[in-house]
Amino acid sequence: MNNTFRTIKGTKDILPIESDRWRKLENVIHDTMKNWGYGEIRTPVFEQTGLFERSVGKDSDIVSKQMYTFMDQSKMSLTLRPELTAPTMRAYIQHNMERDGAMTKIYYMDTLFRQERPQAGRLRQFSQFGAEAIGSPNPEQDAEVISLLCNLLDKLNVEKYEVVINSIGSASSKESYRTALVNYLTPFKNDLSNTSKERLVKNPLRILDTKDEKEISILHDAPDIMDFLNSEDLKHFEALKKFLSQLGVDYKRDKRLVRGLDYYTKTTFEILNNSLGAQNALCGGGRYDKLIERLGGKSTPAVGFAVGIERILLAMSQQNEQKNNKPSIYIVCASNDSRDSVINLTDEFRKSGLSTNFDTLRRSVKAQLREANRLSSTHAIFLGDEELSEGSVKIKDLDSGEQVSIAMKDILSYFQD
Ligand code: HAM
Repeated sequence: MNNTFRTIKGTKDILPIESDRWRKLENVIHDTMKNWGYGEIRTPVFEQTGLFERSVGKDSDIVSKQMYTFMDQSKMSLTLRPELTAPTMRAYIQHNMERDGAMTKIYYMDTLFRQERPQAGRLRQFSQFGAEAIGSPNPEQDAEVISLLCNLLDKLNVEKYEVVINSIGSASSKESYRTALVNYLTPFKNDLSNTSKERLVKNPLRILDTKDEKEISILHDAPDIMDFLNSEDLKHFEALKKFLSQLGVDYKRDKRLVRGLDYYTKTTFEILNNSLGAQNALCGGGRYDKLIERLGGKSTPAVGFAVGIERILLAMSQQNEQKNNKPSIYIVCASNDSRDSVINLTDEFRKSGLSTNFDTLRRSVKAQLREANRLSSTHAIFLGDEELSEGSVKIKDLDSGEQVSIAMKDILSYFQD
C-alpha cells in the first residue's frame, strides 16, 4: 500500500527508539544550565518578520533565502523562527528583564525552521539549545559561555571537537577592515563567484567564509582583521584568549571566521567536529553588543551561542554510549492461572518506580522472552503454576544468564537494594 502522507522534505520524526537519547541529552542540558545560573525561556514559534530582518540582517542567507514567511489573515507578515537569539532579545526588552538584575542569563532548547537544501546534519526543521548572557561587556563573560559550551560537550561525550575563535571588532574596526578587504579583493573581482561579487558590494566580510577553493586561495594573502582592530577590541580579544587558557579551553584562531548573521561585534566562535562531513559546525556564537539597542531596548552588551541538537546526536552516535545500569524487568506469564499475579506484580513494581513490562498478547514463554530482549530488559521474572504453589519466583539476569530463586515476599527488595 502506498503511504499517502509522509514527512515534509527536511523534517523528520523522532521515533520512540530514538527519543530516549534526546531525553538524556535534554536532561544534561537542563541540569548544567541550572548549575551555571541560566534560566530557561520558551518563546512562540512565529514572530513578526521584521524582528529577523532587523537582527539577523536582510542580506544574510537566513533572511534572504531561508525563512518560512507568510501573511496571516490580518495581513501581518509572520516568520517561523529561523534562530532564537532575536526572539530571546525581543522577550528581554518586552518584559523589562533588565529590572531583574544587572546580568540576565537565559537558555533555550527549541525547534527552528530554515528552508535549506537538506543533507546529513542539515534539516528544514531542526532543534537548538543555546545560552545568552546579557549585561556584561567584559571578555570573561565571552570565556564563560565558551567554557560552558565545552563543559556541556564533554558531559555529552562529544569527542574530537575543535573550538575556533576570532574577533570581527566593533563598528569602527569593522569599517576600516571592510575598506581594506574591498581594496584587496577588487582586482580579483573577475575570479569571484556571482555570490561573492554581490557580497563585495553588500557585505564583503561574508566572502571570508566561502567554501570555494579558488576564493580560499585568493583570500590567503588578504589583510587580517587583527591588524585593523582598535586598541579596545584588541585588548578584549587578547584577554579572552588569556581567560580561555586559564579555563583549560584549547582553541584555534581562524582569521576567516566571520559568521553569517549580521548582529555580531567583537568575538565570534564556532565549534567544529570534522567527523560530520560538510555540515561540521556543531555550534556558533559570539558577542552582539548592539543588538538589543537595534531592537528598541537600552544599549546592553551580550554574548551567547547555539548548538544544533541533531548534529550533536550525530557526533555522539559515533562513540560508545554509557549503558544505563538501572534494572528493566519483564514479568513472564508462564501459565494461564498466573496471569492475575503477573498483572498485580507488574502494578506493584511500577508503583515502586521500577521499569516493568508484561505481555498482553498471551504469547508463549519463548515469545515473551524474545520480547523482553527486544525491549532491552535486564531481568526476566518467571511466574507459573510451580512458582504460585511454592510462593517463590525465578529471576533471570538476561545479560549473564544467571538465575536465582527468590521468595515472593522478598522480590521487590531484591531490585530495590
Ligand atoms: P547558527 O550558526 O546559525 O547560529 O546556528 C547554530 C547551530 O545550529 C549551527 O552550528 C548548527 O549546529 C545548527 N544548525 C543551523 N542550521 C541548521 C540546519 N538547517 N539543520 C540542522 N542544524 C542546523 C545561530 O543560530 C545564532 N543564533 C547563535 C547565537 C546565539 N549567537 C549568539 N547567540
